[in-house]
Amino acid sequence: MPGDGIGPEVVAAGRRVLERVAQSYGHRFVCNEHLIGGAAIEAHGDPLPPDTIASCQESDAVLLGAVGGPRWSDPNASTRPEQGLLRLRKVLGVFANLRPVKVLAELVDASPLKSSILSGVDLVVVRELTGGIYFGEKSRDETSASDVCTYHTHEIERIVRVAALLATQRRGKLCSVDKANVLETSRLWRDVTNRLVASEFPEIDLETLLVDAAAMHLLSRPAEFDVIVTENMFGDILTDEASMLTGSLGMLPSASLGDTQRGLYEPIHGSAPDIAGKGIANPCGTIASVAMLLRHSLALEEEASSVEAAMTKVISDGGRTADIATGNNKVLTTDEFTELLIQQLP
Ligand code: IPM
Ligand code: MG
Repeated sequence: MPGDGIGPEVVAAGRRVLERVAQSYGHRFVCNEHLIGGAAIEAHGDPLPPDTIASCQESDAVLLGAVGGPRWSDPNASTRPEQGLLRLRKVLGVFANLRPVKVLAELVDASPLKSSILSGVDLVVVRELTGGIYFGEKSRDETSASDVCTYHTHEIERIVRVAALLATQRRGKLCSVDKANVLETSRLWRDVTNRLVASEFPEIDLETLLVDAAAMHLLSRPAEFDVIVTENMFGDILTDEASMLTGSLGMLPSASLGDTQRGLYEPIHGSAPDIAGKGIANPCGTIASVAMLLRHSLALEEEASSVEAAMTKVISDGGRTADIATGNNKVLTTDEFTELLIQQLP
């Protein structure tokens, strides 16, 4: 689903990579394209039309660009592009959103942070994706508004289990982020997390941080984090912050997983209306999402690693889109970058 803004440009890049992977490794991927977000509102008056939902449910994996844009940004509109994405996450039951943040040595200069702080950063934020304030009851009258934040024990348990399991496959460290000094949902979150990790993952080194402090620690000592687990909105905010460690919001991929192999894969960036249609968007977040799709939904680990290696190679050779270019890099368009990457694949 290309979606809006730069979505179609980066999804086209992702599909070219998938097609090349199919050719190189002798697979056949059947891809169907559907509307979501603003594009679907224009065509059908609905940001998530029924045929889009049906196709996603029949597929092994879903690749999505971005939704939203100035055309649909009236905060009082009753139909908004973002509703399509939120409903899709809910319908697909993809409660675990994995957002890896890995700083490539070659891109240290592209980040506004000092290189001494960035070396060795390799963390994953596991964001709860189908609960919390995003999905609670909303109300609005002339002079007041409310958004309800609710979490149930089982929702916390299943996301913490995903994060803890991931930590056991990595460096064994888990940091749970909450606001337990203020929010009741966070106090439940903390209790459930402590109990579950102690009983099911006693070998894990569990740290707990308040979200305001976590925002600061992400900039002062990012290399010390391994897996971070947090609720929906904190995860949304912290991952935009964390993306700047890698040099650009355009770098970060994500995988949203549920109880089955099927996943939803999308770059964490938005529709970037300011650069839409110019062919200069960074396709890395989407291409890295394609790698996650190959790994998690199609169990094609070798193919996934080769896509990641190809991306790193293009960047090491100095290939950069405008958002990550520094000094004497030749600035590439979305297509030029993608073409170079494809040439690196077997
Ligand atoms: C994200 C985005 C979405 C979110 C928006 C577009 C609804 O910011 O995936 O991070 O808030 O989840
Ligand atoms: Mg976001």
